[in-house]
Amino acid sequence: MKPEDKRNKFIPKAVYNVHKIIINKAEDFLIYDEKGDEYIDFTGSIGVLNVGNANSEVVKAIKEQAEKFTHACFHTYMHKPYIDLVEKLARITPGDFEKMGALFNSGAEAVENAMKIARHYTERPGIITFDYAFHGRTISTLSLTSKVNPYKKGFGPFLPEVYRVPYPYCFRGEKSFESEKECADFYIKVLEEHFIKYFDPETIAAVIIEPILGEGGFVVAPFDYLKRLREITKKHGILLIVDEIQSGFCRTGSMFYWEQTGLDYDMITLGKSIAGGLPLSAVIGKKELMENIQEGGLGGTFGGNPVSCAAALSAIEFMEKNELWKRANIIGEKIVKRLVELKEKSKYLADIRGKGAMIGIEFIKNKKTKEPFKEFVSKVIAKSREKGLLLISCGVYGNVIRTLMPLTINDEYLDKALDILVSSIMEVEREYE
Ligand SMILES: Cc1ncc(COP(=O)(O)O)c(C=O)c1O
Repeated sequence: MKPEDKRNKFIPKAVYNVHKIIINKAEDFLIYDEKGDEYIDFTGSIGVLNVGNANSEVVKAIKEQAEKFTHACFHTYMHKPYIDLVEKLARITPGDFEKMGALFNSGAEAVENAMKIARHYTERPGIITFDYAFHGRTISTLSLTSKVNPYKKGFGPFLPEVYRVPYPYCFRGEKSFESEKECADFYIKVLEEHFIKYFDPETIAAVIIEPILGEGGFVVAPFDYLKRLREITKKHGILLIVDEIQSGFCRTGSMFYWEQTGLDYDMITLGKSIAGGLPLSAVIGKKELMENIQEGGLGGTFGGNPVSCAAALSAIEFMEKNELWKRANIIGEKIVKRLVELKEKSKYLADIRGKGAMIGIEFIKNKKTKEPFKEFVSKVIAKSREKGLLLISCGVYGNVIRTLMPLTINDEYLDKALDILVSSIMEVEREYE
């Protein structure tokens, strides 16, 4: 049986594949399928490969650790890679307060644990989440996640005491805004109205926010909104959880995006690119929150597996040594420059936004109504693949292309990828003339 047929026979369609190719080998930012066809990877396997696929330094660290011991559940006996990694994360995450952390397997698990810590500390049940949010696919993180189809459809009931408020998505707002400040003011007012109409802020343990939406469309929350949000959370004794699972580890032009805001926070959730492709996630937070929980209250069998921790230590060292955040800015500037030229001519390319190399490109059918144009994006993705570039979309409406390439991509291939992207957009545009 051919692998594609075997896949269809044994793996349900719910376990979706954006690109129906079977990868055989990867070299940094390049992917090869079984026929030997080469693709430039602009997906980074959804933001996991900031240091490149099969990064030789990470592979060396994995091998060395695997030869010593492949697993040690931290609850049975300790190991140095876990301890060293939490220390490292506490040092590189923003904020100069005393921090502690714990390691898990996936982003969703980190978010679940951040919720547990917040509830335990505040002795309150409520969690505030946002429109367009994505925090994972387990039942409790799905309760926070937006986008019904395919993520939530048929999987309820979800967690009680989760309150959803509008995200300051200025481009697609309830009204059009003259400035970011006006947008921020509007959405802060909406949040405060929720405290009057829908729920009591004194029952809320935490707000969880992606300062740049990932799955929800690569939307940057205005700084003024985040600043006021922090003030409001402080006023009501609500904890602020910053979810940097997608935006973290150099993607936005700094190790973590929150650094760029200079604002205070209580906990940060990390995952995806943390370990150069191995499964690992973390919650890092203020010591008083983390230390408040009874002995044995946090953990799991595999969380902080030593091979994953060794990979993470090596991936972070690679990021620091190569100042990968600087490269993210250079990549982002190149993308924006190419696309801004195109936007001027295009009828459908309506918004280019982001920070560093986390760039969202939004397509709409009509510049007045801003009706999302998902089919356009699907066609661009298909055409780009034919030409050797792998892309993925995002956004509740699936009408945004997002850039999550390894930050190790060189100029030659970046230019090649942008040529493919631009020519594919132009070709699809012609189809609609
Ligand atoms: C911001 C954010 N939080 C949480 C998650 C969930 O992570 P995982 O898929 O590793 O459970 C994701 C995954 O896309 C994410 O982007």
